Amino acid sequence: MNTPTPISTGSIPEILSHIDAGVMTITLNRLDKKNSITSAMYGALADALESANHDTAVRAVVIQGHETIFSAGNDIADFLNKPPATMDSPVFRFLRGISSFPKPLVASVCGPAVGIGTTLLLHCDLVYAGDNAAFSMPFVNLGLCPEAASSFLVPQLMGYPRAAEALLLGEPFMAETALEIGLINRIVPPTEANALAQRQAQKLVAKPLSALMETKRLMKKGNATLVAERMAEEGASFGRMLGEPAAKEAFTAFIEKRRPDFSAV
Ligand code: COA
Repeated sequence: MNTPTPISTGSIPEILSHIDAGVMTITLNRLDKKNSITSAMYGALADALESANHDTAVRAVVIQGHETIFSAGNDIADFLNKPPATMDSPVFRFLRGISSFPKPLVASVCGPAVGIGTTLLLHCDLVYAGDNAAFSMPFVNLGLCPEAASSFLVPQLMGYPRAAEALLLGEPFMAETALEIGLINRIVPPTEANALAQRQAQKLVAKPLSALMETKRLMKKGNATLVAERMAEEGASFGRMLGEPAAKEAFTAFIEKRRPDFSAV
C-alpha cells in the first residue's frame, strides 16, 4: 500500500500544517520567540481550522508545539504595535474557530503554555502533556483580562479558589495539577507527547465522524452560547485594556527586559 504523502497546507512558516491519514497536524513553529503568536499566525491558524472543517479528508486535528515549548502566548510586540482592532481581527477569528470547531481536536503540550497557550486547550477535546508542561494565564500581570472564555471555563473547570490563583495571581501550575483538575488527559515524557497525540487522533479517525461530531456537539451544547457570549464580552474589554496605561507599561517593560512599574496605574 502507498503511504500518503503529507500535503503542506500551511501558508506561513511559523504555522506548519499537513494532512496525513485523516489527521491535520498544525504545528506552532516560531521557536526563536518561544512560539509566541503574531497576528499573521492567528490568521494562519484560523485558516487551517476553517480548511480542516470543510475538508472531508480531515477527520481529526492535532495542535502541537515543540518538546521544549508549547507557546509563550500572544506576541507582546504585536500587542503594543498591532493590537486587534475589531472582532474580525485574526485572534478573534481564531478563537471563534477553535471554540466552535465541530470535529475532534487533540493537543500535545510540552514546556510553557502561557496565556492563549493555555486557554486554547479549554477548547480541545483531548490534551496530552509532557511532564515539563507549565500552564499559566498571567493576563492580570499584563494589565489585561482573560480571553477565550477562560473567565467562564476556568472557574467551571477548577472551581473558583483555584481559578482565582490562576487568573488573579497569574500563578503557573504544572502538569500534575492540570491532570488533577481535568485540563489534560495524560502526562508522558516530552519526547512522547506528539506521538501519543497522533495515536489518539488515529483512533478517532477510525470511528464514524458523524457520531463523533454529534457527540461533541451534544457535550458542548450546555456551554456553547455562554462561551460565545463571554468571548465577545472579554474581547471588548481586552481590546479596550490593550490601549490603557497598565498594559502599555507591562508590554514596554517586557520589551525593555525590566520589571513593570504599576505604581502609577
Ligand atoms: N512575545 C514576544 N516575544 C516573546 C514572547 C512573547 N510573548 N515570549 C518570549 N519572547 C521572546 C523573548 O523576547 C526572547 O526574544 P530575544 O531572544 O529576541 O530577546 C525570546 O522569545 C526568548 O524568550 P526568553 O524569555 O529569553 O525565554 P525563556 O526560556 O527564558 O522564557 C517564557 C520562556 C515563555 C517563560 C518567557 O519568554 C515568557 O514569560 N514570555 C512572555 C509570556 C507572556 O507574558 N505572554 C503573554 C501572555 S498573554
